[in-house]
Amino acid sequence: MSPIRVELGGRSYDVQVGAGLIDDAIVQARDFIETYALTGGGSRKVPVVADTNARKYHGERLAHSLASDEYEIAWFDVKPGEGSKSWENLERLTDWLLELGVTRQDHVFALGGGVVGDLVGFACAILKRGVGFVQLPTTLLAQVDSSVGGKTAINTRAGKNLIGAFHQPSLVLVDTTTLATLPDREMRAGYAEVLKYGLLGDAAFFAWLETNGSKVLARDAAALEYAICTSIAMKAHIVAADEKETQDLRALLNLGHTFGHALEAETGFSHDLLHGEAVAMGMVLAARYSARRGGFDHADVIRVQRAVAAAGLPSRLEELGLKCSGSRLVDHMRHDKKAEAATLPFLLLRSVGEAHVARDVDLKDVAAFLDDELAG
Ligand code: GLY
Repeated sequence: MSPIRVELGGRSYDVQVGAGLIDDAIVQARDFIETYALTGGGSRKVPVVADTNARKYHGERLAHSLASDEYEIAWFDVKPGEGSKSWENLERLTDWLLELGVTRQDHVFALGGGVVGDLVGFACAILKRGVGFVQLPTTLLAQVDSSVGGKTAINTRAGKNLIGAFHQPSLVLVDTTTLATLPDREMRAGYAEVLKYGLLGDAAFFAWLETNGSKVLARDAAALEYAICTSIAMKAHIVAADEKETQDLRALLNLGHTFGHALEAETGFSHDLLHGEAVAMGMVLAARYSARRGGFDHADVIRVQRAVAAAGLPSRLEELGLKCSGSRLVDHMRHDKKAEAATLPFLLLRSVGEAHVARDVDLKDVAAFLDDELAG
């Protein structure tokens, strides 16, 4: 499988997708590891920051691969969960990297989902004003979204991802075999982001998912690889064209996220509603709201709802059993980092495969719409 290139001039990098890439890590990432061995005084230690589950399932394989060139891993464990994207962990991690003597020529490896990738990416962005890192994403969501594109961040009391930086990885290794141990619920949550790519910009891919989504969720190797590669290729294209979200292009990747963020905030960013589940519900709401404004066919709303429901993701707001008003959900949206002054951009749909940014949305109308949806 040829790599997917994220074209960013001198900061361009490859995303490799395939089964067993962790076993092959030494071959894929040798150039980046060797730098560390040289600048780190020939210590032959490779710094790997890992989610404890990812280390349990894949740590041995990575260690075995690196050992073939006589490298050892210096492990830094991170507990699973959003709580690990904290100031405290950032401090612990940067102190540890400094103690190891990591230099600007070195690379730190991130093994795990979006939490580990975001934390490591941000630590590397600020450590010595920029250290390289390699992403080894082990969840579907991280593979198709967060490991590619250089958005890195931690959470604070004021909200998620409010402290962060754009810092691109040097290499992303997507080993599809890691999904074999991913819980089904996490798999479905990651699949929401896959559906998002079809809905926002590729009608043929969306139609393919309508037919083959169950194979992807069942981890059929060929279907999975096709879905992951198609998603990453679209993300790579968008990031190359609008790296820092200064035009409306990268913002399209937030389809389903404005409504979804409000739902996550209302459920306390807890395990009750995973990010991908909120995005799935958010995409349905974006479709229904687009139809209400008259810009999207009702038949396409049904397609979106069916595709989301068929994946076992929430597709009706009343399913979530929220006890709140539409205006409370709108207040959550106003607090999202994407809010601009008094206006709030919404990602809406013209057709399946064509999203756009609407800047003329009346938030009172959104609150009334959500009241209707909450009532079922
Ligand atoms: N996850 C949205 C982005 O990378 O822009």
